[in-house]
Amino acid sequence: MELTRPLALRLLLALSVATWGFGTCRAAFTPADNYLINCGSTINAAVDGRVFVADSSGPAILTSPNSTAATASPNAVSGFDDAMLYQTARIFASPSSYAFRLKSRGRHFVRLRFFAFKYQGYDLTTAAFKVSTQDVVLLDNFTAPSTSSPVFKEYSLNVTKDMLILTFVPLGNGTPAFVNAIEVISVPDDLITDSVQIVDPVGQYLGMSVQPLQTFFRINVGGPKVTPDNDTLWRTWDTDQSSFVNSTATELATFPPGNLNFQNGLATEEDAPDSVYGTARQLLVPNNTSSMPNMTWEFDVDARSSYLIRFHFCDIVSKAPYQLLFDVYVDSWSVVKDLDLSDKGLGSLAVPYYIDALLPSSDPSGKLSVKIGPSAINITARDGILNGLEIMKMNISTGSVVVVPPPAGAKSHLGVILGSVLGVVAAVIIGIVICFLFRRKKKPQRPPTRRTSSSWTPLNGLSFLTTGSRTTTRTTLTSGTSGDTSYRIPFVVLQDATNHFDEQMVIGVGGFGKVYKAVMQDGSKLAVKRGNQKSHQGLREFRTEIELLSGLRHRHLVSLIGYCDEHNEMILVYEYMEKGTLKSHLYGSDMPPLSWKKRLEICIGAARGLHYLHTGFAKSIIHRDVKSANILLDENLLAKVSDFGLSKVGPEFDQTHVSTAVKGSFGYLDPEYFRRQKLTDKSDVYSFGVVLLEVICARPVIDPTLPRDMINLAEWAIKWQKRGELDQIIDQRIAGTVRPEALRKFGETVEKCLAEYGVERPTMGDVLWNLEFVLQLQEAGPDMSNIDSMNQISELPSNDRRVVSSLELSTADASRTPIDYSDMSTSNAFSQLVNAEGRHHQERATKNGIA
Ligand SMILES: *[C@@H]1O[C@H](CO)[C@@H](O)[C@H](O)[C@H]1NC(C)=O
Ligand SMILES: *[C@@H]1O[C@H](CO)[C@@H](O)[C@H](O)[C@H]1NC(C)=O
Ligand SMILES: *[C@@H]1O[C@H](CO)[C@@H](O)[C@H](O)[C@H]1NC(C)=O
Ligand SMILES: *[C@@H]1O[C@H](CO)[C@@H](O)[C@H](O)[C@H]1NC(C)=O
Ligand SMILES: *[C@@H]1O[C@H](CO)[C@@H](O)[C@H](O)[C@H]1NC(C)=O
Ligand SMILES: *[C@@H]1O[C@H](CO)[C@@H](O)[C@H](O)[C@H]1NC(C)=O
Ligand SMILES: *[C@@H]1O[C@H](CO)[C@@H](O)[C@H](O)[C@H]1NC(C)=O
Ligand SMILES: *[C@@H]1O[C@H](CO)[C@@H](O)[C@H](O)[C@H]1NC(C)=O
Ligand SMILES: *[C@@H]1O[C@H](CO)[C@@H](O)[C@H](O)[C@H]1NC(C)=O
Ligand SMILES: *[C@@H]1O[C@H](CO)[C@@H](O)[C@H](O)[C@H]1NC(C)=O
Repeated sequence: MELTRPLALRLLLALSVATWGFGTCRAAFTPADNYLINCGSTINAAVDGRVFVADSSGPAILTSPNSTAATASPNAVSGFDDAMLYQTARIFASPSSYAFRLKSRGRHFVRLRFFAFKYQGYDLTTAAFKVSTQDVVLLDNFTAPSTSSPVFKEYSLNVTKDMLILTFVPLGNGTPAFVNAIEVISVPDDLITDSVQIVDPVGQYLGMSVQPLQTFFRINVGGPKVTPDNDTLWRTWDTDQSSFVNSTATELATFPPGNLNFQNGLATEEDAPDSVYGTARQLLVPNNTSSMPNMTWEFDVDARSSYLIRFHFCDIVSKAPYQLLFDVYVDSWSVVKDLDLSDKGLGSLAVPYYIDALLPSSDPSGKLSVKIGPSAINITARDGILNGLEIMKMNISTGSVVVVPPPAGAKSHLGVILGSVLGVVAAVIIGIVICFLFRRKKKPQRPPTRRTSSSWTPLNGLSFLTTGSRTTTRTTLTSGTSGDTSYRIPFVVLQDATNHFDEQMVIGVGGFGKVYKAVMQDGSKLAVKRGNQKSHQGLREFRTEIELLSGLRHRHLVSLIGYCDEHNEMILVYEYMEKGTLKSHLYGSDMPPLSWKKRLEICIGAARGLHYLHTGFAKSIIHRDVKSANILLDENLLAKVSDFGLSKVGPEFDQTHVSTAVKGSFGYLDPEYFRRQKLTDKSDVYSFGVVLLEVICARPVIDPTLPRDMINLAEWAIKWQKRGELDQIIDQRIAGTVRPEALRKFGETVEKCLAEYGVERPTMGDVLWNLEFVLQLQEAGPDMSNIDSMNQISELPSNDRRVVSSLELSTADASRTPIDYSDMSTSNAFSQLVNAEGRHHQERATKNGIA
């Protein structure tokens, strides 16, 4: 065995390994921060193709009044991939810290390794201690087990400071704290999204982006263990051997590596690597029985704690799309029903996809089970699949944080190590290092991903230039199926139809980019919304938007015709609305005024569209930007709501949106939403109430040129309404044609819509009924006017949020809800609705809040 090597050679080897490692996978995610620390050691250790740098060489700022570098007796730990790291530890007799300067804020993996051994006077197996950052306690009263098994802990923390300080606090009487190895690595920002579906009670959780998470389980279902060198973010994925409950017939499936449809996917290789999505366990339902078995996994977790559970799916078993339809459960709660992976992949197979679910309180027994069962809908395709699973604990610990700040001005490279005793360098370890360096295998070549990677990468305190080459050719994919889901439109077609995106063809500009009028070869017209390449809307949001919008088909919603993602373009194609916005017909243009009846019909149409958004799906979809400029009119002046979903995509886009919303949509904003930042479908009702006022008064919602008390339409008009004098301020061009009974009802409806608190406002369904009633009053005359529709209609059970399944649709009992199914423009709506419940995933991405 090799005993020693000159330092220079070791360094050279480490360098070449590092550059080589990054050279072969330059297109993969490159973490801005990548600290790998071998604690209590004076030498670097190569593990899983990475080099853990000795803490004595100062990659992080160690602040400790009394620390000891300790080495385990040789072979105390062995048989692990990362055994090297457990050979040494840094022992702290008093509160101490490692501080890491961060290049990037946001999510980081913090990984800690512990292995308790005896060293000189210390018995680490009795050490009880706390580990905390500035914001969260990672471990409280932690004791490493005295068996010979090392402990590995992983956390995902959104670090919002430019320094992360890990403080170790001994709690025992005279016993120390210790740590063997530390990793602090940036992860992609979109790995954890802010809003997550809660399984019980059903709802939406906002704020996941700031939640600290602790990985409890990470499973490569149906596949082999995946070690950090095979994972894009150096994660470990265990097998499902110890969690799978062998009670049903299942089959393992494997897909040839490198052939997954990542380019078409909603999940990236950073979400889970090829080796996770490419293996699965499939449920086999016996042909000759009527039983519907579940495939079950069971985990030991902390009782009564909150967990974020991520299911990774990829249909690698079906021979053709739309063959796999199944249900997903956590404990006894349904996560998604009738999940159709082909639908998520826009008709393609082998498309990686994941779903998040939040379990607010785990079972008191401390067991958490995950189940996959066949869908009740399709008896012929009884099946189910799961590829990967992650269980992450929220609210890690309630203890109070302790911080030992580094001395002011401390520099990591100076190696500020106070009172540390350099550990004994075992020649054996050097030998192992060398062995590892030579055994280092090449990383598998990865297909290009969409993240750019040309940057300076700090690697273990040294910097290497990694030149990222990004392949931009994204071949057009034929989705493999005909029919409803093939929405992709070739770029050249759009280029021709818009005259090479001629500025003359621009009909609108938004945060997303410009909207062009397109004239197809057959003379038909389309509206083409071309994503600004500089806009912050990412590909994933673009895709989820396609999914959401393609599922929303309704006579009173502007339909998505298709999309184009060639050449990294993000283009959405909508039906063209000949007559433009409702706003342009009300004021500020020289268009002829719309009649009162026409205005009512337009309001009714828009209310229908919004009502469908709110109630047509398992979860309500909140438009968030209801205004007269977002209500479009077709050639027959039929109203359609547009721009739904766009306001709720990713957080970055959201930021720009919020500021434009305050400018552009000021005057429509729900005051309650303003104050409490809590969005409900009643916020749309408020905005719609303002639109109703705009329609009857024909003036801008905010007009700064007017006297002070008249500037804000909603405030001003509601005063008149409360005095019963709304007739004084209505559009003079139609005033003579408005029947007083109709106006009274209309005014009351507006007033209720603009109620201070959401709970006092009617639902969109109620508004719709009332507007229809207004229209009847207008047409039928005064003899109906003594029926108080508002009170009657408020009693209708239109508040319950319904779960629409295809079964319910096919037997739809029209009297049960005010949904007008006849309004759905195509039968496509039905096929889309079959999956309404499974759609929560993209809703999660596009919705920022659900009551
Ligand atoms: C460090 O801690 C050990 C154990 O608590 C103690 O014996 C030793 O005296 C301390 N050394 C210093 C310099 O404080
Ligand atoms: C730490 O845990 C041990 C048992 O593991 C317990 O006896 C002790 O009281 C705990 N200490 C604190 C401070 O909670
Ligand atoms: C981290 O938290 C901040 C708010 O403190 C938030 O703006 C940011 O989006 C979060 N980052 C990620 C990656 O979630
Ligand atoms: C992990 O990578 C090694 C080579 O580094 C390879 O031999 C092995 O098959 C990979 N395992 C998986 C599950 O991809
Ligand atoms: C499940 O049980 C069956 C029969 O009891 C056995 O043949 C099979 O090997 C088991 N599978 C696993 C993964 O343990
Ligand atoms: C069910 O029948 C089909 C052919 O009809 C066969 O391919 C499949 O393997 C059978 N499944 C089971 C679980 O026996
Ligand atoms: C289903 O078929 C299997 C084998 O083909 C047989 O063992 C089993 O009894 C059958 N079950 C029923 C309910 O017929
Ligand atoms: C599958 O699990 C769900 C949730 O616990 C349960 O409702 C359903 O009855 C189970 N199916 C079978 C056949 O056990
Ligand atoms: C059920 O599955 C079969 C194929 O297994 C498919 O032909 C049929 O359309 C499906 N039915 C429904 C309602 O999805
Ligand atoms: C977890 O923390 C959130 C806030 O971060 C809090 O609302 C929730 O009640 C906590 N849950 C538990 C189980 O402590």
